[in-house]
Amino acid sequence: MKVTVVGAGAVGASCAEYIAMKNFCSEVVLVDIKEGFAEGKAMDLMQTASLNGFDTKITGTTGDYSKTAGSHVAVITSGIPRKPGMTREELIGINAGIVKEVTENLVKHSPEVIIIVVSNPMDTMAYLVHKTSGLPKHKIIGMGGALDSARFKYRLAEALEAPISDVDGMVIAAHSDTGMLPLLSKATRNGVPVTEFLSEDQQKYVIEETKVGGATLTKLLGTSAWYAPGAAVSVMVQAIACDQKKMIPCSLMLEGEYGQNDICLGVPAIIGANGVESIVNVTLTAEEQLKFAEAANAVREVNGDLKF
Ligand code: NAI
Repeated sequence: MKVTVVGAGAVGASCAEYIAMKNFCSEVVLVDIKEGFAEGKAMDLMQTASLNGFDTKITGTTGDYSKTAGSHVAVITSGIPRKPGMTREELIGINAGIVKEVTENLVKHSPEVIIIVVSNPMDTMAYLVHKTSGLPKHKIIGMGGALDSARFKYRLAEALEAPISDVDGMVIAAHSDTGMLPLLSKATRNGVPVTEFLSEDQQKYVIEETKVGGATLTKLLGTSAWYAPGAAVSVMVQAIACDQKKMIPCSLMLEGEYGQNDICLGVPAIIGANGVESIVNVTLTAEEQLKFAEAANAVREVNGDLKF
């Protein structure tokens, strides 16, 4: 299994590190536009191999896509991250051009590739890849729900004062501060609905802190986070590489599912060797359905700024 990660910055390097550490891939190619940067990150990571005990070969290139030929999976993390106070949507002007160009290069050298889109605004960037790559829809997956759900579980465990492994929960809809939909109604602690343990104020706290999870970190770090995003991508790549058929919320092109069409939004899906094996239909409450539709309207508006 060969994986390309475009963008060797904070998130791209973290992806490569987690993928290598889990030792399920033979090769990871890092690509960046900054001269020598991907080569340097690859060399540094390779020098952890004997320390961390992995055999994955990590190489880097400054924009030579012939080195990515035959990739099974490619992760697009290239582009600018937000600064404190910025929304993800404000990144569209610069990132759309980068994502489009990177997609063309990837598909040219790996026509069978499965693309995982990370660059923000992610739901719109995933939509752009659908519109420009020519790949079938099951091969384009946006990463947002895996990360947002991990942040939701973190906040649930905090409020419940429980170990993370006791809690389960999922975030769907948009990967944005306002459009995220943490499904509190379905979240559980050891199989029991969390609503039985948490007061209304605690429930509100968990939902709000989950939605601004990325913004909170951006404020603390001065740029967006990378450990949890990298780990979330590695879980998705592993599900594909090992054909795990694992349920992961991802931003996918909807054609009628959840009442939406011609839009990429976060929904639970089974991820396996083919990329998206199927979309899972969970029953939403009336309020959740409304929030999902509102998130779709907001993403559609951002998509309107795209030029193909
Ligand atoms: P970063 O600035 O650390 O790294 C981005 C890298 O992309 C840089 O090294 C830059 O040289 C490279 N790059 C720019 N144009 C390129 C091109 N045409 N070809 C190849 N490489 C190119 O940024 P960071 O923190 O890694 O974030 C990357 C993106 O991921 C941002 O758009 C950020 O908003 C997004 N992100 C998305 C998350 C999600 O859940 N979907 C989570 C965290 C970040």
